[in-house]
Amino acid sequence: MQPRGPGPAEPRRAVPPGRSRARSRGAAGAALLPSMLMFGVILASSGLLLMIERGILAQVGPPPPHPPAGPSRRDGRDSPAELELEVLRDTRNRTIRALCGQRSMPRSVWELPPGQRRTVLRHLLVSDKYRFLYCYVPKVACSNWKRILKVLDGALESVDVQGKMDHKSDLVFLGDMKPEEISYRLKHYYKFIFVRNPMERLLSAYRNKFGEIKEYQQKYGVEIVRRYRKNGGNSAGDDVTFSEFLRYLLDEDVERMNEHWMPIYNLCQPCAVRYDFIGSYERLHADANHVLEHIQSPSFVRFPERQAWYKPVTAETLHYYLCNTQRRLIKELLPKYILDFSLFAYPLPNITSEFCRQ
Ligand SMILES: *[C@@H]1O[C@H](CO)[C@@H](O)[C@H](O)[C@H]1NC(C)=O
Ligand SMILES: *[C@@H]1O[C@H](CO)[C@@H](O)[C@H](O)[C@H]1NC(C)=O
Repeated sequence: MQPRGPGPAEPRRAVPPGRSRARSRGAAGAALLPSMLMFGVILASSGLLLMIERGILAQVGPPPPHPPAGPSRRDGRDSPAELELEVLRDTRNRTIRALCGQRSMPRSVWELPPGQRRTVLRHLLVSDKYRFLYCYVPKVACSNWKRILKVLDGALESVDVQGKMDHKSDLVFLGDMKPEEISYRLKHYYKFIFVRNPMERLLSAYRNKFGEIKEYQQKYGVEIVRRYRKNGGNSAGDDVTFSEFLRYLLDEDVERMNEHWMPIYNLCQPCAVRYDFIGSYERLHADANHVLEHIQSPSFVRFPERQAWYKPVTAETLHYYLCNTQRRLIKELLPKYILDFSLFAYPLPNITSEFCRQ
């Protein structure tokens, strides 16, 4: 995605061009159409949150009380952690099935508007040798997966090779292929993504890009401060506050966001692409090993350890930022990321005063 600087300031609730049809459908109709969802959300705000939680998710039903019956290799040996994982996967499966089963949700990439299709095809990386597609999500260990792809392809000797990752070279993007080649791979290959708690992902993007990367400070930071801070005209863009960043996100169109903060839903289109496996950042190594096993990667290919310079987002860090940000701002932002929260079964952030007192 071509990173775009913030455009001229627009009124917060402006109707995006070409979407006025959503108005006549009412909030309920809007909720079912991905491209209109955000419009509905922006209008209906917390109302829609409720609708998704009570309405569509109510159809999902509770998870079964026991892990699925039938012959299981792990019979009688399921630890609480394994059970929890099973429930999580089951919840994700059901939510995705229920939400993506709505009539107006896209069932294939060809049903997507061209802009959305371009975005997802640009994020799907191809391995023909191992017959898989990986949709990369920035801030969810995507550099490590890209390294793995390069190693599997023979372009890189080992995942531990030092130095900065080139995010383009030696990678094959599904979007560069012909339509029939794309369809074939979408139909026959193993498809996976890795997801992460949306608030943590945003915080990670914020701290990394505005704390460390000059290019982002200049490209986005300067404009964000100018827009959202009184007398912010002299900032070098390296002092953007988390609140200012969130206000900027509120004003951005999700389909045009920089990929580091674009919702996972828009990057990877989990309704149009039926992923075989959804890994979690929260159990990165176990889930990555699951994938590596499934694709039958050679045993010398291991998922890399976290880079030494990497600053993890801890629970304390998240607590600090969430509790030092206006509650209203976080609440207003949630609808933009609601599909990431609900499809991937992440709880909405706890911003109650009890929690913040701790
Ligand atoms: C989720 O769905 C996938 C694909 O249908 C299936 O392979 C997997 O076993 C399901 N997981 C659970 C926990 O139900
Ligand atoms: C939020 O955190 C507080 C304090 O830990 C807890 O009592 C409360 O149940 C939590 N609320 C939600 C919705 O998780």
